[in-house]
Amino acid sequence: MRIIALNILILFVFRLPGQNPLHIPPTLQGPQFQLNLQNGQHEFFPGHMTATMGANGNILGPTLIMNTGDSVDIRVTNHLGQPTTLHWHGMHVSAANDGGPHTVIAPGTTWNPRFLVMNRASTMWYHPHLDEFTDEHVSKGIAGMIIIHDSVELNAGLPHTYGVDDFPIIVQTKDFDNNYQIVHHSNQDDVLMVNATIDPYLDVPAQIVRLRLLNGSSQRVFNFGLTNNRPFYLIATDGGLLEAPQQLTRVMLSPGERAEILLDLNNMQGQTLYLMSYASELGNGIYGAAAPGMNPNMTLDNYYPNPMNGNDFNILQLNVTAPTSQPVTGIPASFEPIIPLQETDADEFRNFTLSPVTMGFNQLNGDFTINGVSFDMNVINVTVPLNNLEVWTITNQSAIAHPFHIHDITFQILSINGSAQIPPNARGWHDTYLVPPGGGSIKIITRFEDFADDTIPYMYHCHMLNHEDGGMMGAFTVVDTSTKIDKMTSGAALIYPNPVLSNTYLTVQLKNKSDLIKAYTVLNQRGQIVYHHNIHENEQNYLYSFPVFELAEGTYIVKIYTGKSVITKSFIIQ
Ligand code: C2O
Ligand code: CU
Ligand code: CU
Repeated sequence: MRIIALNILILFVFRLPGQNPLHIPPTLQGPQFQLNLQNGQHEFFPGHMTATMGANGNILGPTLIMNTGDSVDIRVTNHLGQPTTLHWHGMHVSAANDGGPHTVIAPGTTWNPRFLVMNRASTMWYHPHLDEFTDEHVSKGIAGMIIIHDSVELNAGLPHTYGVDDFPIIVQTKDFDNNYQIVHHSNQDDVLMVNATIDPYLDVPAQIVRLRLLNGSSQRVFNFGLTNNRPFYLIATDGGLLEAPQQLTRVMLSPGERAEILLDLNNMQGQTLYLMSYASELGNGIYGAAAPGMNPNMTLDNYYPNPMNGNDFNILQLNVTAPTSQPVTGIPASFEPIIPLQETDADEFRNFTLSPVTMGFNQLNGDFTINGVSFDMNVINVTVPLNNLEVWTITNQSAIAHPFHIHDITFQILSINGSAQIPPNARGWHDTYLVPPGGGSIKIITRFEDFADDTIPYMYHCHMLNHEDGGMMGAFTVVDTSTKIDKMTSGAALIYPNPVLSNTYLTVQLKNKSDLIKAYTVLNQRGQIVYHHNIHENEQNYLYSFPVFELAEGTYIVKIYTGKSVITKSFIIQ
């Protein structure tokens, strides 16, 4: 925003009291939902209309209420006059129902995903995901929350009355031009809003209150906290409840991430406090810190004039009012245990490297690649065998932190920057997490269960939407290679080196040294057989090296026949 932003922001930074009641999006109860994606107008600034996009309204969309185990039927009708898609961020659904870039909803048509809600109780969200247009459609306003309930959560003694003691808090920054129109792909995102309300206040009862925080910004990282470092309780991350509430004073959320927190407002009637971002504490190299790169001499257009960067600011004024008639007044001691996934059980290890394209290490914006390639609608970058337990290490070879998001699954974080001592907000289940800059890394573990599709991919990508639109995204399919094999054998062999250089040899080694490799088949990522070889009896061993000659670069699957079982592994030829 070029003219009035500075005034507004000076006020923000100096704690302007909230002036507008927080908009609480209406809810839709399933199992059938109708969403109409439409163009609209919204008065963010008094007397000035802004062109927007919304679902069932001018801006944002209704909160969808679902229950684990529901069979939902969603009709998404596209009235935008241009193509889009709608993605259920965080939800475990088939690739065809996921709403990624390959599932385009043509203008004037209706898309009708139907699926079983398999996720635990959690806070998810939906937003468009059209290749190269995600930032525009999200920035203009299409985004909504999904609240999933289950019996564990409903019986845990938590506040769960929407708009009364359980509140959606969608936090976004946007850039507006001189005509009060939204600018996307911008680093001048100096207008802060919650649920599309600028300068908001919320009346909250003097009891335990639950806030569902969603960072729906295109780029900005928030370091949430309360006035005077008042503690709160983190109860859930992206994928649902933690094992127990964690008393904290900060929770950092990068774009796409959610956190649920409890505020203890008992006996505080009449008082005012603020949900804030302690952005002054963000480390350099995080969008929203004092410097967007690791060193202050690395620059990003329009970054330094924005007073939100590196300064603490208020997000939402909370006015504590009288308690409700049946208030929740205590913090639950614990929820259910989360069983840690074990790296030693993994079937596959993969590495993803995030790199700048043009300017080397000084590049903070523009195009970034994942494993050296930009997103291509026609390429499947990774093929995951169904039911694989996989460890992915994401390493950031750029000077700015990137929030890495994976569709279909939720993951556990094994380590950050090589250390297994991870902060409290990194525990539990996630679908998005910030990869630290300058060679920083996160190592995650997850199992790819239930849904296989040879052709429609899921996405992994940076959730800074201009980076995503610029190609910082990859496609993966989950492929069922196990129809004829015992799924338990998938971990029964090692395959190396992986990736393998073309015109060299790939070695397969059975974990059980008394078994013999009798034959093998290589399939391409479409599941077509490209090579089959029966090994002569004299050469059968538990170890076999085979040539990867005459095979193009790409991802392949090898099926190893031992006579007792068929073991399936994927590998990459580089
Ligand atoms: Cu929230 Cu692939 O996105
Ligand atoms: Cu997603
Ligand atoms: Cu990025």
